[in-house]
Formats: sequence, structure tokens, C-alpha cells
Amino acid sequence: MSDDGIAGDADREPDGSLPAGVSRRRVDGDDRLCTRGEPVYGEPTDGEWRAWDAGRSKLGGMLELGMETGLVGGETALYLGAANGTTVGHVADFAGPTYAVEFSPRPVRDLLDVCESRSNLFPLLKDARRPETYAHVVEADCDVLVQDVATRGQADVAARNRRFLADDGRLLLAVKARSEDVAAAPEAVFETVLAELRETYEVLETRRLDRFHDDHLGVVATPR
Ligand SMILES: C[S@@+](CC[C@H](N)C(=O)[O-])C[C@H]1O[C@@H](n2cnc3c(N)ncnc32)[C@H](O)[C@@H]1O
Repeated sequence: MSDDGIAGDADREPDGSLPAGVSRRRVDGDDRLCTRGEPVYGEPTDGEWRAWDAGRSKLGGMLELGMETGLVGGETALYLGAANGTTVGHVADFAGPTYAVEFSPRPVRDLLDVCESRSNLFPLLKDARRPETYAHVVEADCDVLVQDVATRGQADVAARNRRFLADDGRLLLAVKARSEDVAAAPEAVFETVLAELRETYEVLETRRLDRFHDDHLGVVATPR
């Protein structure tokens, strides 16, 4: 662990605690994290299982690193920054109702294809900074809020969307340092974001995701 309390990649081994519906399997000769569902991004498959590429998914990286996400499978999920559905497709494979917010129309076109075979995945072409625009659609007391919005003000987005999360729910946040400040040292950016986040959430765990994603911090938190 570094002096500032942010755990480095080498500090702990993965604990293997994966939610139901997520499994480690041999795919193309490699040990891969997998979910069951229709392929989305050309990922290799083994029967009904498809590999979850942690190099393309911050949540996949958090699971690969053994972070205590609190995920058990079957939860109600709100996903912010769904893009074209790479990660949220895996989430919908093991979760219950999954609301996918993305404000850019182009990736949402691809996201619609991901939703086609997943009746529990609901796309929302909305701005995550304006939760009042989708509050009438998203269920109250979601079990998990997953956030991967590459934008300035990532702690603010998490705070604004806390209203959807159950009091004992989990925020699974990927902080991209360069989206906050391209010039600043990532560690300094992470400390600033965490300080702001702590006004609304109790931070339970942090890990640098650099093995899979440069200058990203994985955060597990729960509402205060
Ligand atoms: C790094 S990409 C997400 C990748 C995706 N989470 C995945 O793993 O498949 C970040 C996404 O956040 C979206 N985004 C940024 N700001 C947003 C906002 N305010 N509301 C909704 N989406 C936003 C971007 O359009 C982009 O698609």
C-alpha cells in the first residue's frame, strides 16, 4: 500500500470471490473471466460462456484484481457511461434489471444491439449529470451503481446519482485521472476525487487498475 492509502496492483492477490453468473473458465487455452450471454465485441467463447476482457472493461479489471465488489449476482444495477455496451452487456448477463445510461448517440446505436438479446438491459440516452431526466425510469434502491464516465467531475456524477442507490448498496467507480486533469499527477487527482467522493460515500476499497487501464483507480464505496 502506498503512503496515501491507495493500494497498488501488487499489494494483494485476487481472492476469487466472483458473483454468481461470473466464472473463470478455460477459453482458447487461457484462464478467462466469463459470463453467459450473446457475444458483443468479438470476444472468444466456450459454448454459452464468453470471455470478459479486463483490458476493455474497468469493472472486469476490478474483478480480475479481486476487489471486494459486493456483487453476488441478480442485483438491480444502474450503469453510468455504458458506451457501446462492452461492460454493461456482461453486467446484464449476471445481474437483474440493468439500466444503462450513455449520453452519446453513436455508441447507443451499438448498445441497442447488445440489449436485443438481453431483456433485462434498458438503454437510456441520457446525461448522467442530470439524473432527474431518468429518475422516472430507474428503480429506487438499486443494489449497485457502476460508473465509468470519462468526464471531468466524476465524484460529482457519483454524488448526483446516489439517490438511486440503496443505503447498503455499492458504488463501483472507475476514476480516469486524465479526464479530470491531463497535466496533474494521477495520484494527486485520485486524492482530490476521493476527498469529494467522501462527502457522499464511505470509501471501502481502492486499487490502481494500471495492469489493465493506465491511470485509472477502481473504487468500491457505499452511501454515507
Ligand atoms: C470509457 S467510456 C465507457 C466504456 C464502458 N463503460 C465500457 O466499459 O464498455 C466512457 C463513456 O462515458 C460517456 N459519458 C461521458 N460523460 C457522460 C455523461 N455525462 N453522461 C453519460 N455518459 C457520459 C462517454 O460518452 C463514453 O461513452
